[in-house]
Amino acid sequence: MGLELKGCRALVTGASSGIGAGLAEALAAEGATVGICARRGDRLAEVVGRCMEHSPESRMWAVDLADFDAVDQLSVDVLDAFGGVDLLVNNAGIPKRRHVTALNIDTITQVMHINYLSPMRLTMALLPQMLERGAGTIVNISSIAAQLSAPGEAAYDASKAALTAFSEAMAMDLWETGIKLMVVYPGVIDTDLFSLPDNDIPDLPVTAEPVSVAVDAILGGLASGAAQVYVPEYFRDICTSKAQDVAAFLENTAGYLRDHRAAT
Ligand SMILES: NC(=O)c1ccc[n+]([C@@H]2O[C@H](COP(=O)([O-])OP(=O)(O)OC[C@H]3O[C@@H](n4cnc5c(N)ncnc54)[C@H](OP(=O)(O)O)[C@@H]3O)[C@@H](O)[C@H]2O)c1
Repeated sequence: MGLELKGCRALVTGASSGIGAGLAEALAAEGATVGICARRGDRLAEVVGRCMEHSPESRMWAVDLADFDAVDQLSVDVLDAFGGVDLLVNNAGIPKRRHVTALNIDTITQVMHINYLSPMRLTMALLPQMLERGAGTIVNISSIAAQLSAPGEAAYDASKAALTAFSEAMAMDLWETGIKLMVVYPGVIDTDLFSLPDNDIPDLPVTAEPVSVAVDAILGGLASGAAQVYVPEYFRDICTSKAQDVAAFLENTAGYLRDHRAAT
């Protein structure tokens, strides 16, 4: 059974750009009251302005989700403003793409902090009011990297795998409570994620899809009550194929990278 977006109170993290911004605007256009957060207040103000054209009660919070106290305060502030959160979208994320030999423990910790610990902290803070109502939807924006373990971004892959595993376990623990979990696996979506400083330039073997493709897939997943959404859908087959022969997948991917580097 799908989620009714009209009148829904939604919180979307990392909504100052990319998938989060597009999704926030689409949710508002469907009649949801949308709360958005990220660090860049100027970008958030533009997004919330567009949300308010459809949904005047929408709000923004400029927050660094690396700061756990700020995450706790965010949950309090959103509940004060909206009286509850029906839909939580944990979307904020950072890549820190680099070869595993160039990673250090501080970077690995930072990525795990933003992509896993912080969204789980926010989730645990907002869960009690969902349990009280016996209703709520939590969408965790993972990545195809969680399943395919993309080379050159080991810290990111691991953080998204943690997010996925937590989500699936949570879905089963909460099966009878009325709270639904949906995990989203974007492949390559055309956002700032691939041009952020302090990241290697990715070697992408597929064409990037526009943000609207991800947004439509997420809305479709919410409407159908899907447990997981792949963007684009063909990544589901790639993941299935990898799971059937992991050794072959690793060998073929390493071979592709070796040949590609030799040719460039
Ligand atoms: N694009 C893709 O192909 C792709 C593929 C797989 C998964 N994903 C996932 O999709 C999600 C959205 O990424 P995107 O592609 O839309 O990239 P994006 O445009 O860079 O969006 C990332 C968002 O996260 C926010 N963020 C980062 N660090 C933050 C922090 N410390 N505190 C608060 N907010 C923070 C950023 O806002 P501020 O900088 O303003 O704080 C921004 O709004 C991420 O979780 C990403 O891992 C994307």
